[in-house]
Order: sequence, then structure tokens, then C-alpha cells
Amino acid sequence: MRFFVDTANTEDVKKASDMGIICGVTTNPSLIAKEGRDFNEVIKEITSIVDGPISGEVKASTEEAQGMIAEGREIAAIHPNMVVKIPMTTEGLKAVKVLTAEGIKTNVTLVFSAAQALLAARAGATYVSPFLGRLDDISMPGIDLICDIADIFEIHGIETEIIAASIRNPIHIIDCAKAGADIATVPFSVLMQMAKHPLTDQGIEKFRADEKEAFGN
Ligand code: E4P
Repeated sequence: MRFFVDTANTEDVKKASDMGIICGVTTNPSLIAKEGRDFNEVIKEITSIVDGPISGEVKASTEEAQGMIAEGREIAAIHPNMVVKIPMTTEGLKAVKVLTAEGIKTNVTLVFSAAQALLAARAGATYVSPFLGRLDDISMPGIDLICDIADIFEIHGIETEIIAASIRNPIHIIDCAKAGADIATVPFSVLMQMAKHPLTDQGIEKFRADEKEAFGN
């Protein structure tokens, strides 16, 4: 399983990229709004940091494919690594079909059922993003959705990749890796949580102390 960082904060993108742990970035309108910066400016900066798929989401009405198609073309024109994020609606599926035929990569977002994931894949989506944490929030086990999609895609030889999204903690990550998600898009804070273990810190402290006791400074 590979990692994307789920953020529009370019400093966090840079930190994650410098550690060599991510190979892509996902953003959404809420994450862009949180930064209070212009969409194009943020996205261009991210493409200069990470040489991998960068998802930018359409803001056009999800009830009319044409607007999403037009905006999708604009997003794709920003950089060859751009992936157009389209919300999972019937009009969104039409937009995915058209953009895919034009060679534009798409990421169908806000997926909450295996049926939605299967439709998105058949429309030609490059990626589907099932939202784990938001299902957990309403007491439905999000990991079951990742397992179901991974099984279905495997059985039918579907090449659309699964991006496990709405990740809240390192346990989600391990569960998604075991379930067969291709990618997890992870907030920077969770990536940092993954790196930490109290026994690692204690071990470093002990090695330093033993070294100091034996040889001084
Ligand atoms: C995925 O691409 C989304 O940006 C993201 O994972 C949403 O997560 P949230 O439920 O924490 O907002």
C-alpha cells in the first residue's frame, strides 16, 4: 500500500515529501479553504514539490456533468500529474466517462458503498476514494467497505485503484493495508503518529545514556 498526504498545506506536503514516504497528494475544497489560499496557487506549489498524482476537486454543481467536465479540463491543464476529483453522483459518473475518454485521470470521491465504487470503476475512474472515518463516525465499520471493494475489484480484475480516505489514526492504516487498499491518503498528523513508538524513544535514550556512561561526552 502506498501513501498520499491528504492536505492542502504546502509545508506539510514538503515535510512528508522530504521523508520519502508519500508519492501523491489529495486535496478537497475544505482543505483548500482551511489554508485560505487560491486553489490554483496551492495546487501549482504542490506540483512543484511532489512528482506524483495530485488530486484537485471540482467545485461545479454535482447535478450537471458539463460544469464538472469543463472544470475538470481546467484542473488537468494545470500540470500533467493532476487528477480530477469528482463527487460520486450520476452526473459525476458522466463527467468521469468524458474526462477518461480524453485521457484525463479521475478520482471519484465521497464513496460510501461498494455499489458506488463499482459504478465509478465501470465509468472509467482511475481511483475511487471510499471514506473510512466518516462511516465510523456514524457507527458503520468503514473498514468493511474497504474489504468489500478490494474483494470485488480483485474478483473482476478491475484496475481502478482504491484510495482509502478519511483516515483518522494508524490503526485505520494497518487495517486498510491488510484489506488490500492500493493507497491510503493520510493527514500529515497521522503520518507522524505512525512514525512514533515510545519504545523507540526509550531505546534511543538508553543507547545514548550507556554510551555516555562508558565513554563520556
Ligand atoms: C479524501 O480525498 C478526502 O480529502 C479526505 O480523506 C476526507 O477526510 P475527512 O473525513 O477527514 O474530511
